[in-house]
Amino acid sequence: MKTAVTELLGIEYPIIQGGMAWVGEYHLAAAVSEAGGLGIIGAASAPADIVREQIRKARELTSKPIGVNVMLLNPNADEVAKVIVEEGVEVVTTGAGSPAKFMEMWKAAGVKVIPVVASVAMAKLMERAGADAVVAEGMESGGHIGSATTMTLVPQVVDAVDIPVIAAGGIADGRGFAAAFMLGAQGVQMGTRFVVAKESIVHDNYKQKVIKARDIDSEVTGMSTGHPVRQIRNKMTREYLKLEKEGATFEELEYLTLGSLRKAVMEGDVVNGTLMAGQCAGMVNKEQTCRQIIQEIIQEASALLNK
Ligand SMILES: Cc1cc2nc3c(=O)[nH]c(=O)nc-3n(C[C@H](O)[C@H](O)[C@H](O)COP(=O)(O)O)c2cc1C
Repeated sequence: MKTAVTELLGIEYPIIQGGMAWVGEYHLAAAVSEAGGLGIIGAASAPADIVREQIRKARELTSKPIGVNVMLLNPNADEVAKVIVEEGVEVVTTGAGSPAKFMEMWKAAGVKVIPVVASVAMAKLMERAGADAVVAEGMESGGHIGSATTMTLVPQVVDAVDIPVIAAGGIADGRGFAAAFMLGAQGVQMGTRFVVAKESIVHDNYKQKVIKARDIDSEVTGMSTGHPVRQIRNKMTREYLKLEKEGATFEELEYLTLGSLRKAVMEGDVVNGTLMAGQCAGMVNKEQTCRQIIQEIIQEASALLNK
């Protein structure tokens, strides 16, 4: 399947596994790349030497291109940006700000730069800064979100920029993939469906919560602080929302969620942990290998798009 995104990234299928803190480590990233998509190591707030180790371990499992997701607010972002160049990483996706200050270094090293954006204004800014493509991410997504939906954001970003647009948020099967292409996207990025992949190291308790979730089982916390996060409803979200309603400070709320994603991913604490997942969790109902996921989506989408 050839699109502007497969050509740009040198991959077989235009399916990207979104960078995911704790979840997107080398096993998952390598498996997605080996299956013909683009696997991404989520650097989140990891120190640079851990990111380097993750990249090297992924390289042992695949010779295909891999990516790293850099959270620009991370205090280690400068060092992580350098590690990406030193390790010859092919693709970088960025979140939480503008990667402008790293752009020259990355472009000189041949790294493809793909910022994740939640608005037309940000997409235009990123194009002007030299981005090779953008991920337009709607608020159906798991994790940190903006305010526009995928359905409305993707075509508006497509109209506003000349670089390829990758759609994210709520895409979990061939129908979503085909719909994204109808909206003008040239690729898709998925998170929630890969959380439950066989190669994902996410604790089974967390995977089962995603698999059993219904359409309305996600909750957005942090609206009042300007840092909204979508996750599956549990004791933690109920406590968080109660505190938010009572006017708790940003620090109090942060304290409640300190290390909570790690707790869910690594320890399977589905009561006090943060179970980041999108609205599409309702249609993610089985654990499959990354190859099965990608093949199933491509077959379904090809049939729909060739109708
Ligand atoms: C568990 C989890 C963690 C995530 N962490 C990050 C992250 O660290 N950086 C980032 O840019 N996006 C993050 N995301 C967003 C994904 O990369 C992706 O864009 C999103 O999941 C797509 O929407 P979907 O969940 O509906 O497929 C995360 C998503 C999930 C589900």
